[in-house]
Amino acid sequence: MPTLRSATANSPPAATPSPAAASTPRSVKRRLTPGRAGETPGASRHTSPHRSPHAGAGTVCSPKLLSASPKSSRKRLYGDLVAAEKPKWNPRDPAQMRAVKEALHVATVPSCELVCRDHEQRRVFEFCKGCVEQEKAGSLYICGCPGTGKTLSVNKVKESLMSWADEMGMETPDSLAINCTNLSNTSEIFSKILGQFQNRKKGSNKLSPLQQLQSMFSNKESAPRRMMLVIVDEMDYLITRDRAVLHDLFMLTTFPYSRCILIGIANAIDLADRFLPKLESLNCKPLVVTFRAYSKDQISDIIKHRLKVLEYDVFEPLALEFCARKVAAATGDMRKALGVCRSAVEVLEAGLQDSDQELGIVTFDHMDIALSKAFKSAVVDSILCLPQHQQMVLCALANTFQHCKKKATTLGELNKSYIGICRSTQVPAVGMLEFSNMCMVLSDQGFMKLGQSKEDKLRRVTLQIDISDIGFAFKGNRFFQKCLEQPRC
Ligand SMILES: Nc1ncnc2c1ncn2[C@@H]1O[C@H](COP(=O)(O)OP(=O)(O)OP(=O)(O)O)[C@@H](O)[C@H]1O
Ligand SMILES: [Mg+2]
Repeated sequence: MPTLRSATANSPPAATPSPAAASTPRSVKRRLTPGRAGETPGASRHTSPHRSPHAGAGTVCSPKLLSASPKSSRKRLYGDLVAAEKPKWNPRDPAQMRAVKEALHVATVPSCELVCRDHEQRRVFEFCKGCVEQEKAGSLYICGCPGTGKTLSVNKVKESLMSWADEMGMETPDSLAINCTNLSNTSEIFSKILGQFQNRKKGSNKLSPLQQLQSMFSNKESAPRRMMLVIVDEMDYLITRDRAVLHDLFMLTTFPYSRCILIGIANAIDLADRFLPKLESLNCKPLVVTFRAYSKDQISDIIKHRLKVLEYDVFEPLALEFCARKVAAATGDMRKALGVCRSAVEVLEAGLQDSDQELGIVTFDHMDIALSKAFKSAVVDSILCLPQHQQMVLCALANTFQHCKKKATTLGELNKSYIGICRSTQVPAVGMLEFSNMCMVLSDQGFMKLGQSKEDKLRRVTLQIDISDIGFAFKGNRFFQKCLEQPRC
């Protein structure tokens, strides 16, 4: 019997854009999420393998081949045993630049197998396969943080399931995908499901859509013949105070003639704990599959895999690793990782205007800038809005704590550090009274904490923000970079 892998391998699934691929914030997502319930997403954007103009140039017919270099004659002699040298990426070539950005776009779905979600896909596939084989309804609950590949994996499993059923000569189940962010109210989910079972024919019925479904699945005569795979994405939106909609939804799979294979997808990890006990008591506890946040290695593997459609290297290995490490440490969100990589490509692109370099690669420094932008916090914004002298006081604090590994200093010591910065940058320093007032303002705003002392100069000073936020805020600003170069212990 074909496994998930063989099902995928035998019939390469048509690539489908993720319905929820646009962005993480829910409000934005609601606007951007394409495709209404039950719609079939369009074809993949990975249609043309973008080839470098250098690729294959003059290989077969070119006279160059006759006077080949030792390297290319080695290649002719040993054929595939010698790894072909990759052509270099030319970021000035608009077609190549477009191809790179497309490969990194969240809406671009890899047309081949998904990496790093093998185990989860297999569990979902086996569950669906079991339901189809036994013609038995069932429910599955998928949870995991944003950007962990839940929607993408379920879409791939759906394709695999259809190919498998086809291969086995079984009746392929109908399918319905509902993104709950598109529902105008929570109970609309039942009219969507009912509409699909009735092939969108609307009968005049006094019963509510939920009651109609319940009655349909209770009688052998009225029960639909075909199984129906119902994928309910963004299920968090169905959480009502009494969770009645969620319970009714999962209960639909317990009716004697139910034909629903229900897959609920949600972000809330604790939703399972909150509503599973009740479902268990109602005898409809779903199978739970958790999608863990991507690790550094997984993020790195996924990006490399997505870039395989290109013939050239786009990132320095160190740059990719830096991105993967940062994103994994923060959220493990693949959407974020792809966004950062695209942004790093744009940083390189912007730099092209100032140079006449033909070839390029995204370096660690490009990635550093992209990561700084992506993880820029509200604190960084607040730092950037401060008056210059208060910003210089923060630099003095950063120098004290960064270079001297201290945890606290005094107002007097901080003043000396500040004066040192003023001297090196040739900015006239303010007097001690004004300096002390500035520190009080910074303390009121939560940047630092000022202790009590009879003498102002002896007041204890501690930093209340992350020291790296100060570095982030002033990255690329030559004046403040100089301020931050003044060690003072
Ligand atoms: N294993 C993977 N291989 C390739 N790309 C991936 C993988 N996982 C995630 N992605 C990329 O990340 C995007 C987000 O994935 P997906 O929409 O499946 O996340 P999700 O877990 O459903 O997030 P949310 O909870 O916010 O809906 C995908 O559109 C895809 O571009
Ligand atoms: Mg999703």
